[in-house]
Amino acid sequence: MVKKDHRDPTEASIHTDFKNNMTYGEYLSLDKILAGQNRLSDHHDEMLFIIIHQVSELWMKLILHELRGAIKAIENDELSTAFKMLARVSKTQTQIIQAWDVLSTLTPSEYMQFRDSLGQASGFQSYQYRMIEFALGYKTPHVLKIYEKDKVLHEELKEAYQEPGIYDVAIKALSGAGLPIDKEVLDRDVTETYRKNDSVMQAWLTVYRDVETYWDLYELAEKLVDIEDWLQQWRFRHMKTVERIIGFKKGTGGSSGVGYLKKVLDHRFFPELWDIRTEL
Ligand code: HEM
Repeated sequence: MVKKDHRDPTEASIHTDFKNNMTYGEYLSLDKILAGQNRLSDHHDEMLFIIIHQVSELWMKLILHELRGAIKAIENDELSTAFKMLARVSKTQTQIIQAWDVLSTLTPSEYMQFRDSLGQASGFQSYQYRMIEFALGYKTPHVLKIYEKDKVLHEELKEAYQEPGIYDVAIKALSGAGLPIDKEVLDRDVTETYRKNDSVMQAWLTVYRDVETYWDLYELAEKLVDIEDWLQQWRFRHMKTVERIIGFKKGTGGSSGVGYLKKVLDHRFFPELWDIRTEL
């Protein structure tokens, strides 16, 4: 058998044949991405801490991209397109949850050695996380205040805050299918966090009791439940990982820490989709 020469010119050309001589590194802006791990201490474990946040933020960027695409698709009555995007959101969420396993290798003794260098920086200020919450209908405007000084970002956040969430467009789809929805819900102020409503509850009950007639809406509902379920699991793993690393100390962002993270677990994005499970 002839051994393959890795310097074979034909093979080499396959690997370097980028359009207009662009390299892999250039295409992916690796110079920027890989130059962004700036440790503030010389502690070995700070590298993990930075990268785990950056990886999570990158996945959040994809989640937002898909969620926004799905919102548009639902608005345009293209539910199959939305399902594809929402399935990708869920899969990405499983990845972002797995990141906690890696972070759990950071012990309290290690973290305490560089925690002070973080100052008041906290995931609490993650604007992509807030934009995801906005897209899911949970509107807490405090992040706008945090980024007031950055005009471009502030504008982007304001826009995201004022956009309808995915549940708003899903409720419009219920109404579009002829299911009666209160006008006050259809015309609601979308800058406020969604609050549950009986007409929405009745509409989802109709869908779940007659899935053959309302298959698309039923599928949409289950996709939304997947996303909320995974998000809660992310929140839970975050809370437990934080407890494992800092116990019940206050957060660098100034909250009570684990107590605060336990409290946010109570928020439900799509309340009726959970309530109907008791009624069915
Ligand atoms: C050693 C690791 C970590 C610790 C000790 C920690 C601790 C905390 C604490 C105590 C809070 C509450 C706000 C505060 O007072 O700071 C918080 C919020 C938050 N953290 Fe972390 N965190 C860690 C890792 C991460 C990672 C890897 C991410 C991924 C991006 C993340 C994202 C967030 C987000 C989005 C919030 C806001 C949650 C909400 O308001 O619902 N955290 N974190």
